[in-house]
Amino acid sequence: MIEQLFGGSNQTINILGGIGFFAVVLITFYVVWVYYKKIKNEKSEGKLAEENWDGIGEYKNDLPTGWTVVTILLIVWAGWYYLIGYPVNSYSQLGEWNQENEEYKAKFESKWANIDDAKLAAMGESIFLAKCAMCHGLTADGMDGKAQNLTDPMYQFYGVEGIEAAIRAGKKGEIGVMPSFEQEGTMSAIQYKAVATYVFSLSKQGGQ
Ligand code: HEC
Repeated sequence: MIEQLFGGSNQTINILGGIGFFAVVLITFYVVWVYYKKIKNEKSEGKLAEENWDGIGEYKNDLPTGWTVVTILLIVWAGWYYLIGYPVNSYSQLGEWNQENEEYKAKFESKWANIDDAKLAAMGESIFLAKCAMCHGLTADGMDGKAQNLTDPMYQFYGVEGIEAAIRAGKKGEIGVMPSFEQEGTMSAIQYKAVATYVFSLSKQGGQ
């Protein structure tokens, strides 16, 4: 039954978590119950401070030792974290993202190091559909002049390298603006080459 309650995988962790959950609930009820009884039955003792607001006074209690120690430790920890802990480790989420991005690109790169042209163009087509088709259209015809018609045979003169350079740099021309994919920074070298090979293959067919 316990397994059904807490799921099949990672059972030990789930069961421990479940036990912990019930323990916290029980302890909470117990503590509330103890204090509730205390409030009902006990009269407070101790020396009252002199000030008094409409009959509401304040006891002259010492600071609880545990509380004092924890507060001092917290201040020390805050100082350590502010001066050493954070600056020295200098963790950055953006940095981690960039690093993972680079690692992923490198892995992708080495996996496809010896890819042939047909596969490259196929890879390029899916990149085109994801990153270019919203402006250039599914068939790369430029959607009635909203973006460059990439099936134009003139791209044979650009060659794969010329097309790749254009994608990397982006273009602010008469038709409109294409962002620089280099600036966007999510494509790896082989992906530039793939999508450029695909675009080049389109212009070779001279339009569809
Ligand atoms: C935000 C819309 C947009 C996206 C996304 C986009 N383009 Fe463009 N692209 C354009 C526009 C607009 C032009 C025409 C710029 C001009 O000359 O006025 C253009 C021009 C081009 C050119 C011609 C450049 C030249 O020098 O003649 C190529 C090649 C090209 N795009 C390929 C791509 C590829 C490949 C992708 C995807 C990786 C892509 N574009 C994504 C809008 C876009």
